[in-house]
Amino acid sequence: MSTFVFFFKIHMEQVSRYTVTAALIYANGPIHIGHLAGCYLPADIYVRYLRASGKDVIFVSGTDEHGVPITIKAKKEGIQPQQVVDKYYTQIKSSFEEFGISFDIYSRTSKPAHHKVSQDFFLKLHEKGDFVEEVTEQYFDEKAGQFLADRYIMGTCPHCGNENAYGDQCEKCGSTLSPMELIQPRSTLSGEKPVLKKTKNWYLPLDRMQPSIEKFVTSHPEWKVNVAGQCQSWLKQGLQPRAMTRDLEWGVQVPLRDTEGKVLYVWFDAPIGYITFTQELFEQHEAFKGKSWEPYWKASDTKLVHFIGKDNIVFHCIIFPAMLMAEGSYILPDNVPANEFMNLEGDKISTSRNWAVWLHEYLQEFPGKQDMLRYALCANAPETRDNDFTWKDFQARNNNELAASFGNFMNRVFTLIDKNFDSKVPVVSSFTDLDKEVLQKLSNLPARIAASIEQYRFREAQSLMIEVAKLGDKYFADTEPWKVLKTDRDRAATILHVAAQIAATLSIVAEPFIPFTASKLHQALGLQNPVWAWAGKSDLLTPGSLLKNPGILFEKIEDAVIDAQVQKLMDAKKANELASATLEPAKDPVSYEDFVKMDIRVATIQAAEKVAKTKKLLKLTLDTGIDQRTVVSGIAEYYEPEQIIGRQVCLLANLAPREIKGIMSQGMILMAQEKDGSLRFIQPETLVSPGGTIS
Ligand code: 2FM
Ligand code: ZN
Repeated sequence: MSTFVFFFKIHMEQVSRYTVTAALIYANGPIHIGHLAGCYLPADIYVRYLRASGKDVIFVSGTDEHGVPITIKAKKEGIQPQQVVDKYYTQIKSSFEEFGISFDIYSRTSKPAHHKVSQDFFLKLHEKGDFVEEVTEQYFDEKAGQFLADRYIMGTCPHCGNENAYGDQCEKCGSTLSPMELIQPRSTLSGEKPVLKKTKNWYLPLDRMQPSIEKFVTSHPEWKVNVAGQCQSWLKQGLQPRAMTRDLEWGVQVPLRDTEGKVLYVWFDAPIGYITFTQELFEQHEAFKGKSWEPYWKASDTKLVHFIGKDNIVFHCIIFPAMLMAEGSYILPDNVPANEFMNLEGDKISTSRNWAVWLHEYLQEFPGKQDMLRYALCANAPETRDNDFTWKDFQARNNNELAASFGNFMNRVFTLIDKNFDSKVPVVSSFTDLDKEVLQKLSNLPARIAASIEQYRFREAQSLMIEVAKLGDKYFADTEPWKVLKTDRDRAATILHVAAQIAATLSIVAEPFIPFTASKLHQALGLQNPVWAWAGKSDLLTPGSLLKNPGILFEKIEDAVIDAQVQKLMDAKKANELASATLEPAKDPVSYEDFVKMDIRVATIQAAEKVAKTKKLLKLTLDTGIDQRTVVSGIAEYYEPEQIIGRQVCLLANLAPREIKGIMSQGMILMAQEKDGSLRFIQPETLVSPGGTIS
């Protein structure tokens, strides 16, 4: 038995219940596919599988409503932090619900109950003497009257000279920084140079706790390579004491005397949210009332699993476990199966650049198609390295795998049984060797899918699920019941009986991945509250039981739909480029006398043609009111000649004539330039007689 299997077995055998958490995302923006693929979808697949397997499991999440990301957003939008979190909590919660992420509770850290639980946690550590109080010098903005969190300080990066580096990171060269390293620091609140001021904070001495944390991390050799790698790198560098309080207004007040203007570090209170929300679940939700929340966090036979993205690894594998160890009465996470990042069409997902597929928009634009996105995201999940979502891949997965394989198989089962056996599961006469072989293969697949899910290999699990559909497809191709029906009705009945049993198993093993479709199928097949243990059995459906054809399960997605989504991204990219392009600097002043020397007047285009052997030039014939003249203009990339006849333009009429490509150009059309360099005519608001001067 390999070490891995050994550990895996030990862990599995002792588990009586599961507490599964998914990261508390900051309530400062909507959900995008990167969040789903990184954390929420794998967590949901895992929990759905556990529930179907009859396990005692709770699935807990919510929004993180404190910290600088919230106050920065509030400042940007000119509203209060509470308004920011109210808006996004509601939006995020409803998007998750609609997408079928099946949390038992989705709460928020701004609730008073959470403030109390995290304050009590802090006080317990304080009373036990677990914190080290330290006075340090921090940057303070005298004009704004507040200490500056790392993200509120900008300055020049000491490594690459970027003048807009943040106090914690330079986004240009990727260096991790501390505010003290910045050259010429400035406050982003007031633009002023900050001063250093003394302040007291409470530190968790991670340096002293390193041996216990190291022991904890190394007791989990089964953790994913990317997770273990990050932990080892932190441990190798040597852990440093970390402040658990911050000088900020927004957050959970430090529950000690004389600490006005100090709140708990957001990474202290947020993970405690998992505990608060568990308590809330047991206190307020009908199905859980009367039971105790405590075993889910304190019993050693509970398996605690945190689903997160890779940027949260240190907090869930080192800092939160250190807090739990210090407190003393809690269990530690059994696993933290963090994913890497999902990119989009070859580029990093970015909220500020609007380079994202937003969940709420997807739900609006693809109503009823949650399973298609769930499927494509899981198939490409960044489980071991960063991965890429493309709309073409989304289309191919839907059309080739869901529609052509899964959907087509199901459709054949239902329509053949509808037409030939009155929609009733046909009776078996006798199984052939092929039937037995197929049923044998079918019986093996659910356990393999389960093993992959239990080892957090969701891509592999989903592709094994599709193997079930492929098994059905191949069985049909080998047996051709539509032909057999004409010659041997009994044999055709047996084939369709076997196919219906395959469909039943498929509907069960598909549920964690594509729950909306699975639920339709359970109804269609008459499977009430199916459980995982049924999957793979050859007698799931009783002969004679009635089937209700669910119709087409997956429609093909046309090229035009995909092209429109790609275009939407291109438009976002263009808008972003325009917004970030720098404008030409202001020119030196000119005298009025100089200005009036220019003869600018309205002219009408009478004729236009491309200048031969050039890409950019048009030859225009203009009615200037005073004469008719020829002007060569570099606008061929932006206007077709035939579209501009009759247009009025502004002409610099007394520019000295010059020869361009053998044509004498008598003046210059004035154009407005976009930030991307493209040109547009400047046109009078209403028609003006040609020759009208512009002043
Ligand atoms: O990265 C984030 O969005 C954090 N708000 C995640 C917190 S997870 C947990 F610790 F609460
Ligand atoms: Zn830099």
